[in-house]
Amino acid sequence: MTRRPLVAGNWKMNGLRASLAEIEAMGAAYDDALRARADLIVCPPATLMALAGDVAARAGLGLGGQDCHAAPGGAHTGDISAEMLKDAGASYVIVGHSERRSDHGETDGDVRAKAAAALRAGLTPIICVGETRPERDAGDALTVVGAQIDGSLPADAPSHIVIAYEPVWAIGTGLTPTVDDVAAMHAFARERIEARLGRGKSAEVRILYGGSVKPSNARELLRVANVDGALVGGASLTAKDFIGVASAYR
Ligand code: PGA
Repeated sequence: MTRRPLVAGNWKMNGLRASLAEIEAMGAAYDDALRARADLIVCPPATLMALAGDVAARAGLGLGGQDCHAAPGGAHTGDISAEMLKDAGASYVIVGHSERRSDHGETDGDVRAKAAAALRAGLTPIICVGETRPERDAGDALTVVGAQIDGSLPADAPSHIVIAYEPVWAIGTGLTPTVDDVAAMHAFARERIEARLGRGKSAEVRILYGGSVKPSNARELLRVANVDGALVGGASLTAKDFIGVASAYR
């Protein structure tokens, strides 16, 4: 089974129109050798989606949203539907990021509904899971992530969905799990996806690692078994660092 690696940049609440130049620079540095080996996408803030969609399309990068509402439209002030993201040029959307789960109280049920909305709109959901530091210290990391996978994946999801394992304590902290812990979690996640979707689909699902991925540690993290790419926050804001991470696949 060969899964094509995916490196996704999550800009979070960062980026103004001037930042679009970084997407152009990413396209220029995303050369044929790298294109042959990995998919690259950027997930800018909502304000930049339509503009970034045009720039990313010219640069040969994919585009993703950072969140979507479960409904296709309606009276939901401040929210954005999966259909709107698709219309702006997106082909992916991140759902269930730990910052959404903690800042907005999103439950596994909410995340599952958003993932289903993404699929309804023709987007690929990147479904995020991950344990907190106290949960890992208590020895509960696998149990917590297993329950998040069970609760957050739509029952009949297709194999093009993406899972991102992001330990909450590794996000934006400069800390990362050991490669052994990453390997154990990703193997476990593969089994849980299999239990939910069946073996054939599970073998095709890409499982990304996220949490303090940088050019300096990408090679080590991305060669771990069952790690099929990265979800990158801080290091995705500049072309230099983002391409530095993706270059682990050269
Ligand atoms: P980070 O964020 O790379 O800045 O740690 C990752 C994420 O939250 O997706």
